[in-house]
Amino acid sequence: MNDQTPTTVERAEKLQGLGCKRKRVEDARFTQGKGHYVDDIKLPGMLFGDFVRSPYGHARIKSINKDAAMAVPGVVAVLTADDLKPLNLHYMPTLAGDVQAVLADEKVLFQGQEVAFVVAENRYVAADAVDLVEVDYEQLPAINNAFKAMDENAPLLREDIKDKMDGAHGPRKHYNHIFNWSVGDREDTHKAIEGADVVAEELITYQRVHPCPLETCGCVASMDKVNGKLTIWGTFQAPHAVRTVASLITNIPEHNIRIISPDIGGGFGNKVGVYPGYICAAVASIVTGVPIKWVEDRMENLTSTAFARDYHMSGKIAATRDGRITALDCHVLADHGAFDACADPTKFPAGFFNICTGSYDIPLAHVSVDGVYTNKAPGGVAYRCSFRVTEASYFIERMIDILARKLDMDPAEIRMKNFIRKDQFPYTSALGWEYDSGDYETALDKAMKTVDYAGLRAEQNANREAFDRGETRKLMGIGVAFFTEIVGAGPVKNCDILGLGMFDSCEIRIHPTGSAIARLGTISQGQGHATTFAQILASEIGIPADQITVEEGDTDTAPYGLGTYGSRSTPVAGAATAMAGRKIRAKAQMIAAYLLEVHEDDLEWDVDRFQVKGNPEQHKTMAEIAFAAYNQAIPGLEPGLEAVSYYDPPNMTYPFGAYICVVDVDVDTGVTDIRRFYALDDCGTRINPMIIEGQVHGGLTESLAIAMGQEIAYDEIGNVKGSSLLDFFLPTAVETPAWETDYTVTPSPHHPIGAKGVGESPNVGGVSAFSNAVNDAFAHKGLTHTQMPHDHWRVWKTAEKLGLNG
Ligand code: CDP
Repeated sequence: MNDQTPTTVERAEKLQGLGCKRKRVEDARFTQGKGHYVDDIKLPGMLFGDFVRSPYGHARIKSINKDAAMAVPGVVAVLTADDLKPLNLHYMPTLAGDVQAVLADEKVLFQGQEVAFVVAENRYVAADAVDLVEVDYEQLPAINNAFKAMDENAPLLREDIKDKMDGAHGPRKHYNHIFNWSVGDREDTHKAIEGADVVAEELITYQRVHPCPLETCGCVASMDKVNGKLTIWGTFQAPHAVRTVASLITNIPEHNIRIISPDIGGGFGNKVGVYPGYICAAVASIVTGVPIKWVEDRMENLTSTAFARDYHMSGKIAATRDGRITALDCHVLADHGAFDACADPTKFPAGFFNICTGSYDIPLAHVSVDGVYTNKAPGGVAYRCSFRVTEASYFIERMIDILARKLDMDPAEIRMKNFIRKDQFPYTSALGWEYDSGDYETALDKAMKTVDYAGLRAEQNANREAFDRGETRKLMGIGVAFFTEIVGAGPVKNCDILGLGMFDSCEIRIHPTGSAIARLGTISQGQGHATTFAQILASEIGIPADQITVEEGDTDTAPYGLGTYGSRSTPVAGAATAMAGRKIRAKAQMIAAYLLEVHEDDLEWDVDRFQVKGNPEQHKTMAEIAFAAYNQAIPGLEPGLEAVSYYDPPNMTYPFGAYICVVDVDVDTGVTDIRRFYALDDCGTRINPMIIEGQVHGGLTESLAIAMGQEIAYDEIGNVKGSSLLDFFLPTAVETPAWETDYTVTPSPHHPIGAKGVGESPNVGGVSAFSNAVNDAFAHKGLTHTQMPHDHWRVWKTAEKLGLNG
């Protein structure tokens, strides 16, 4: 070895593998205007589609007159339900086993519902024609309150299924009922609560919100009638599933459908569902033979695609007098809107809500969920959280705080006392999940020490005394939240969507010159997969990350996978990537053994090469092996160096975190000043700390938005009250505090590289921390619980109700 020979450490650094703060390779493109989004697609002869939408929350359609719209120069077609009926496409299947009207059939069930689809030469003409379609409506009474959906005389919403009393998830109790789902030991839980020393009881509502990505939903459908091939570019978080659904709906063979997700400007769950716009664009292209583009505007996005949450959670939590939790019971009333289009694995109509025992060792628990129809938009999705985990986490974290107050215990102390201990993992919860790994005490302890929790509480006591003496009009609140997420759906044995098992995939091709391309079944919407999946591979196969291209989102080239949502990419596709890499390495070892004329067992792997044990001078680098794979006939081995892995995870992964928020609340104005926010995340092995930091910042900002302002509210007749960014809160740099981030590392024992998901965690933990802080500010004045969002008006109202403003 001469002085120029790089050391093992230098070679490893050159790879930019696991743990490296590699800069995002995507950013060169995005920061220079070279991103390529759906709306950038322009095809010869392309037409544009736009919707006539219902102004009413609930109304009968008496007639539709298209004449004036059709007379506008440049209008090619106006489609209504009657045009789709002969094709049997006026209803489409939803991801939840229900059907949804593609174009309203005789009735509209929510404001903004699609009534007619205008196809025109350009979108301006289409928009003009939309205004000229005359729809005669007869308004009907609407249901905007889930608690009234199953009243005896409640208006019947879904006439199309009124007599179908057996739904996708069992019997229905009422014509506006969708399903009941329950889990846990009901009888023993109720008994334990009845006989408990202390019981805290509360209704916790998680309001309806919307993921509101920067880019709205849209697609371009292009039917090539000569070759019989349908290509759809769209903002799809699960391109392969879309292809399968498109094939089932249109009867076009799946190999003749190509779904391409180009660059996507944020998804957060909004782009998981199948929307009428996709169907109408595809049908219009099949009929006209020319490409059709449909892209939502902001108001359409907020009012008609994929809401999130809308959960009303009535809970009881029981404990011994010294603060040991003995039982948890929860009934959820789930408002699914007009059609059940929630995106959850089939067997879990309430998603993974049964993670609601949280991070605590609770011996008995029971959950029952009733889903109901209301006159609101359909499409319940996991807005930057794994299926209903944010709701579950918010529920338990509020209940714990309420219980702590009742017991006169500190919120951190009660958490410490009830944590699942490190030596209890793998831990099976009372509601059936097997948590893979965790070290909760260390995480919360680190968080408390870093923020000087004891000092903050002392300061709060002083603040409260000063407030009572009239020296300040501000109250200090400290929010402690600890969360456990469940991400990485999921094991095929219990997770599927529309019967498609939720595995994921990676296919790798190593080229003769030692560069590589990896294709995955997932699709990045800004998470940086092209950067991080190359890092996983760099460590597995010893090729520098810069020489590995990661490609996603084209069903003609990528292996089948279930897509990106709920932080499943790293736990599932990330695992597939590592496993495919290991297959490459196994073959590389055979080739190296042949080239070095030794037995495979005499070789050892060293960063980017195989070397003879005890004689590292004798080695073959991956670059040399790759070339040999293509130019030397190796007896018994096929040429080439390629591998594919379809990974069915044995379990979910369970990231966790400890968050602490400090807020100063002005009781006269309701203004909340987030003084400090500390977030400690544990996502197991950290692939790229810089990307994780970015994910946490983004997720925390969304959690701030939800906790402190976002709401899609409806009035009594079904008008949406949060349909534009004037009303729907999107924080800017002005409202966003400086985030303090931290971490511990507790690897997942079953994931090939020990990684757990992270993208969703900050949203899950953040919301509870903000809400707990606002509630804590008023706790000593007798407040048990105040509902989100904690906007200035509501906070001021809370202060007023407590008699603090007079
Ligand atoms: O499914 P999604 O991509 O939304 O979420 P994720 O799997 O949590 O990954 C988000 C981003 O963080 C990806 O670029 C991951 O590779 C990265 N990540 C990481 O660097 N280390 C982890 N332990 C988990 C995620």
